[in-house]
Amino acid sequence: MTKIKIGVFGCGNMGRALVLGMKAQFPEIHFYLYTPTTLKALQLSSEVNGTFVRSLSEMPDSLDWYILAFKPQNLEQFQFEFSSKAKIISILAGVNLSKLESKFNLFKIARLMPNTPAALGLGANLLFLNTSFNQIEKAEIQKLLESTGKCFLMSSEADLNLTTVFSGSGPGLIFELARIFEAELSRLTEGRVNAKEIVTQTFFGSSALMDTKANQVVSFQDLRSQVTSKNGVTYEALEILNQNNLQDIFSKAFEAGIKRVNELSN
Ligand SMILES: NC(=O)c1ccc[n+]([C@@H]2O[C@H](COP(=O)([O-])OP(=O)(O)OC[C@H]3O[C@@H](n4cnc5c(N)ncnc54)[C@H](OP(=O)(O)O)[C@@H]3O)[C@@H](O)[C@H]2O)c1
Repeated sequence: MTKIKIGVFGCGNMGRALVLGMKAQFPEIHFYLYTPTTLKALQLSSEVNGTFVRSLSEMPDSLDWYILAFKPQNLEQFQFEFSSKAKIISILAGVNLSKLESKFNLFKIARLMPNTPAALGLGANLLFLNTSFNQIEKAEIQKLLESTGKCFLMSSEADLNLTTVFSGSGPGLIFELARIFEAELSRLTEGRVNAKEIVTQTFFGSSALMDTKANQVVSFQDLRSQVTSKNGVTYEALEILNQNNLQDIFSKAFEAGIKRVNELSN
């Protein structure tokens, strides 16, 4: 990647994860970082040897890319005059391109739904690009994002919005499962075992197993069956999850997330 310059508005959990992931892979990228209360931008700029931008008026208007990494609720108050050549990557959940295009009067806007494992280069990036990007720009943005994990091109914004709760929110849902595992193991062993480490290793090992070449072609159901023998321990535990309709609970959770994405897009 050539020496490119990226302006970032918002350096919270997600903005920070993206910047760290990109910088780790492409040290030659120079970041210009802005946050209204300055602290997070100041801290991150020292970590990545970037430029701390104290006020919006100090953000250069001729950078290669700009990343919008604040909350959808902050969009209305966000006022920045982009140049007509600006290329923007928005990670604002649910905020459709039409809304961004009319706010900024610009068309080179990509929608990205990343997730926080991006900081380790292990993110799942959902990307929707409209037709205003040329092939060189498309290749550049994909290469940039591959530095933070895998990139999945979405063929419509509708698909990006539907998938958001699975990937963008996915780590949060998985951490909740891990919390439940840890709490239950601690309760049953009255704290005698290192529940957090055991659960971490179990989730980590299971993900690695899912990711092995051989298992990528095997369904999750098959992987589950391989470790479940009739009337065995796993079988008994899964029976309780099934009797209590775990899938229905997740269905409702995903639908609630999708409803929220739709609310944000209006
Ligand atoms: N967290 C995730 O896992 C995740 C996953 C996928 C997508 N996203 C998307 O990522 C975006 C950010 O989420 P987050 O979790 O990183 O939020 P966050 O941790 O709360 O960080 C938000 C950042 O935005 C900054 N900000 C607030 N108002 C701003 C403005 N007017 N101009 C510029 N920056 C402003 C905040 O600045 P201060 O530090 O000064 O308050 C803060 O640094 C959201 O749109 C969300 O939909 C998040």
